[in-house]
Amino acid sequence: MDTRLKKYAEDILTNETYQSMKKYIQHGRVSVLEHSVRVAETSLAISDYLKKITKTGCSEKELVRGALLHDYFLYDWHEKNAGHGLHGFTHAAAALKNARKDYDISEIEADIIEKHMFPLNLTKVPGCREAWIVTMADKYCSLIETIAMRK
Ligand SMILES: [Fe+2]
Ligand SMILES: [Fe+2]
Repeated sequence: MDTRLKKYAEDILTNETYQSMKKYIQHGRVSVLEHSVRVAETSLAISDYLKKITKTGCSEKELVRGALLHDYFLYDWHEKNAGHGLHGFTHAAAALKNARKDYDISEIEADIIEKHMFPLNLTKVPGCREAWIVTMADKYCSLIETIAMRK
């Protein structure tokens, strides 16, 4: 694991509710916890690359914390009719609500969580560089996880 995850978000990673995401499956055999950690690491890699080519960085701490919490919806989305509607459209708002309940969420972190499903959610356009990075990292990781399920 990228050491910056622990540096910026040890409180999240060691939290019992956060760890409960181990039991929810995201894609294939990948848990929501595993997926979220992977998205945070991929976001850092994209941010490092961006820094290298443009010489401008972003807020690493908020990038990591927002990425770790982007899917903090805390339910099994494969369960039908459990009251969470169309998961793709609704889970970002659910994640933000839970994140706000358990942590002090900055404006950038809220933007990351709320807008990460763009362009599925066409009206929720990422409003900062950090949110664009996580949106991209999430799509990349989801695709890799889906490909890994196939023969
Ligand atoms: Fe998501
Ligand atoms: Fe995700």
